[in-house]
Amino acid sequence: MTTIGIIGAGHIGSQIARKAVALGYDVVIGNSRGPETLTELVAELGPRARAATSAEAGAAGDFAVVTIPLKNYQELPAEALAGKIVIDTINYYWERDGRIDALEKGEATTSGMVQDHLPESKVAKGFNHIPAQDITTTGMAAGTENRRALATASDHEDAAALVTKFYDEFGFDTVNIGGLSESWRVERDRPAYVVRQNATELASNLAKAPRTI
Ligand SMILES: NC(=O)c1ccc[n+]([C@@H]2O[C@H](COP(=O)([O-])OP(=O)(O)OC[C@H]3O[C@@H](n4cnc5c(N)ncnc54)[C@H](OP(=O)(O)O)[C@@H]3O)[C@@H](O)[C@H]2O)c1
Repeated sequence: MTTIGIIGAGHIGSQIARKAVALGYDVVIGNSRGPETLTELVAELGPRARAATSAEAGAAGDFAVVTIPLKNYQELPAEALAGKIVIDTINYYWERDGRIDALEKGEATTSGMVQDHLPESKVAKGFNHIPAQDITTTGMAAGTENRRALATASDHEDAAALVTKFYDEFGFDTVNIGGLSESWRVERDRPAYVVRQNATELASNLAKAPRTI
């Protein structure tokens, strides 16, 4: 049995939890307000899921998914996530997160910031450019023509490999962008962002992404 610790139980966290449970994973999920606010969600998810604090969710996972607003990324429990692969869905919305100069100037990446906050973890970008509702509805069996593809990036090969396997189980092909320093290619408002694309189209969209918007 593999347990996934999910930190963030909103649109994306709940959708990843739904699909993961359906695939046979155990899920421990947390948010900022506490497990008692997740009763309805875990009841829907069934016996493979339980709610916890975000630190408990991080600690319980064989690997983790972090899916919270960027403005709160420094609240992610670094100690609980140490030694683990962490899939990072987080995007930068200045309207929500406040202006972050280094991102606007093209001097940083969102996932690089998360990796810096989690130095003992292996951060991989994942699920950041698919609308939440599509996670459970647009996956297809491996080998299906025109299968949807999603991007990952990581400074750790085993983390990118785990995302690739996880995407495949969810029904998606993978395009590996490379290290986190290149992960801006799939950040918000680039050509690859939240559009349905196959692997060839995704690779092309990544290649033509502008560094700053
Ligand atoms: N929505 C999409 O389609 C989509 C697609 C791709 C990527 N993303 C990105 O993925 C992230 C999550 O998006 P979302 O739409 O799922 O957001 P959301 O619906 O607003 O949910 C955010 C979740 O994060 C939790 N949270 C906030 N601060 C936290 C903290 N410090 N510790 C633990 N949990 C915390 C919230 O818990 P409380 O409610 O208890 O505060 C909530 O469960 C964002 O960065 C977003 O930009 C979203």
